[in-house]
Amino acid sequence: DKDTRLVVISNRVAVPKARGAAGAQGGLAGALNAALTQTGGLWFGWSGEEHPDPAVEPKVGVYDGVTMATIDLLPQDVEEYYNGYANSTLWPLFHYRIDLTAYERDFAMGYERVNERFAVSVAPLIKPDDVIWVHDYHLIPLGERLRERGFKNRMGFFLHIPWPPTRLFVSLPYHERLVRTMLSYDLVGFQCGEWLESFLHYCRKELGANVDEQTGRIDLDGQTTIARAYPIGIDYDHFMAQGVTGEARQTAQRVLSSTRRRTAMIGVDRLDYSKGLPERLDGIGRFFDRFPERVDDLVFIQIAPPSREDIGSYQQIRALLEQKTGQINGARSKIDIVPIRYVNQGHTTAQLFGCYHACKIGLVTPLRDGMNLVAKEYVAAQDPEDPGVLILSMFAGAAQQLDAALLVNPHSPDDIASNIRLALEMDRAERKERWEQLIVTVRDDNVQRWTENFTGDLATVGRLVGGG
Ligand code: G6P
Repeated sequence: DKDTRLVVISNRVAVPKARGAAGAQGGLAGALNAALTQTGGLWFGWSGEEHPDPAVEPKVGVYDGVTMATIDLLPQDVEEYYNGYANSTLWPLFHYRIDLTAYERDFAMGYERVNERFAVSVAPLIKPDDVIWVHDYHLIPLGERLRERGFKNRMGFFLHIPWPPTRLFVSLPYHERLVRTMLSYDLVGFQCGEWLESFLHYCRKELGANVDEQTGRIDLDGQTTIARAYPIGIDYDHFMAQGVTGEARQTAQRVLSSTRRRTAMIGVDRLDYSKGLPERLDGIGRFFDRFPERVDDLVFIQIAPPSREDIGSYQQIRALLEQKTGQINGARSKIDIVPIRYVNQGHTTAQLFGCYHACKIGLVTPLRDGMNLVAKEYVAAQDPEDPGVLILSMFAGAAQQLDAALLVNPHSPDDIASNIRLALEMDRAERKERWEQLIVTVRDDNVQRWTENFTGDLATVGRLVGGG
């Protein structure tokens, strides 16, 4: 039904003043912005602000047909929910890093509190015919909190990050309770088949649910949930439109004129340990060790806007990165050549397009990544007649779709080094052949298709009788 309104709920919302300042916001906010601009509807989330006595009533504004409603959070809640359970417990655990995972009771309680707070604040805005779509690891229990209040709406959940293997996931205290809350949704989406498989395995093994691997149907205690993979894409048309702006052209020109005869290679990542940035630098260091004569041929530009700066593990990764960049540049620079440019600023979409376009190698090497949209943007920004080469981690969700890229093991400096050399030497015919395969997925499996696929399925799997 075209009249049903879409209600999107996520921790981070793309508030208009931050629109266009891509780079630090990550894939979620950009994708949801595109999804909602397409359908209209309501977007509810955290304002990003702390307040000593936050109002329960959200602040509401309408921008481009999208109603945005946001609430502030108590400083203690930001600490225990956002910095705590979301980003010091679930984020590392879901990226397979139990060595970095904090298992703090206060964090878990803050998480419960804020999910309850979200439910209380959003409830008055929800109408009976609305379709509710909750996003990401910050808000897993929200569906259950809404069901408890009697909401029988169709309700879907999408996880933007990986789902870990069962044997890692069971290290989380009360893991069972968390997953049971996911079964309050009618539809649960993952970025790729690998994360879906881990989730279904958990439901069967640990919850004893009845799981049909073919359809993704999960039955437990009289409730049915469907779980499927919906690989997210970029807003292709919007991205391409940014590519023909003066800003994009000027940025490409700046890269080209400052690198001259050298080949420019680019990485763009939030400064996060899941992105494999020190490992990437080790790979580049190894490349220069093995092929010292090529120092004159290659410039690496790493754009890395800082992220989640109040968390210790993020401060440490930043320090490590600065140290490694300094070491390589110290050892390999000449008076007129610096091999690595390390940039902490965020950039607009147009500027990023220009950078990707001017760089003949895109180096995307996360240790784990739900999807990774930088890989897709890099492909989209290439000149079809003379495209660059994408080097992509085999551990990014995107690798399952973009298998015509050079796939690397991001833990292996030698593998990274060998693939940089392959990319530098690849002839135009092979670059074109690979790019022509990659661009089909990037163009066609875009964010609009992702939205249609998920909301289309959600419209058909809704329960006759809701929970609550
Ligand atoms: C990832 C997460 C998003 C998050 C983004 C930026 O893409 O999946 O939920 O919004 O990172 O992180 P931040 O903590 O700044 O929202």
